[in-house]
Amino acid sequence: MLLEGKVAMVTGGGSGIGRAACLALAREGAAVVVADVDSMAGEGTAALVRKQRGVARFVRADVSEPSDCEQLVREAVAAFGGLHILYNNAGIALPFQDGFTPAVAPEVWDRVLRVNLSGTFYCSHYAIPEIAKAGGGAIINAASSMALLPLGGLDAYAASKGGVAALTKSMAPGCAALGIRVNAICPGYVDTPMNAVIWQSEEMKKAFERGHAMGLQTPEEIAEVVVFLASEYGRSFTGAVLPCDRGWTAFKQPDLLRG
Ligand SMILES: NC(=O)c1ccc[n+]([C@@H]2O[C@H](COP(=O)([O-])OP(=O)(O)OC[C@H]3O[C@@H](n4cnc5c(N)ncnc54)[C@H](O)[C@@H]3O)[C@@H](O)[C@H]2O)c1
Repeated sequence: MLLEGKVAMVTGGGSGIGRAACLALAREGAAVVVADVDSMAGEGTAALVRKQRGVARFVRADVSEPSDCEQLVREAVAAFGGLHILYNNAGIALPFQDGFTPAVAPEVWDRVLRVNLSGTFYCSHYAIPEIAKAGGGAIINAASSMALLPLGGLDAYAASKGGVAALTKSMAPGCAALGIRVNAICPGYVDTPMNAVIWQSEEMKKAFERGHAMGLQTPEEIAEVVVFLASEYGRSFTGAVLPCDRGWTAFKQPDLLRG
């Protein structure tokens, strides 16, 4: 197993990619702290981890609240004696409220930035000293293909993910001095509840599917990228913003989101 003896924390672990990452990290031997604002979803993931004979504990936390993030890290360390891996996965897309800048209400902008970008900062802020104390480890941040190839039409979301990419690169030298690698991943379109809202019809889903060289992605394949970056196999990577998108950003995309 790649992560035996490690403690991993996954924000937004109750659904989609976060849930798949909790299961994959636990299968590799890590004790997993499942963090989510949705208690039922998070408890559900922790139960699934235990069902596969893994070790997991759910902690309710809203990553847009610094005090929740501080408490989350404290509880993780108290539960498992340290922290080695942080996957900043929690994120929101608000497709019917986000859009072209003049149409985006400032509160919508603030909400998206606060969860996606500030949440990544808050969790990292409290986790980095603990990961350093545990002897080093890895942080993986959920950016998006939208950080590399914004389609237009989700300005707040794209900006938040661009911010995550820049924060990742900016944190990397400081983290390196503490024995921590920090990387961002940029999936294309993954079949999760987040996109079920965006794909309003089977036709639209198919259009997105065609935009990938090799079809839509699964949460499980992104979880494997997270395991790779968390493990010793990822030791060459820090400060990297990695497309893992089945060719999405290699294709010239049609005007999929602009309404
Ligand atoms: N699905 C995709 O195609 C895709 C592509 C690129 C990047 N991403 C990014 O990957 C991450 C996971 O996406 P997903 O598709 O699995 O989403 P999802 O909607 O299926 O799951 C997101 C989880 O985050 C939790 N969450 C939301 N706000 C939170 C908050 N304030 N505090 C704590 N938890 C919160 C939700 O309760 C949910 O369990 C997101 O950051 C997303 O932006 C997704």
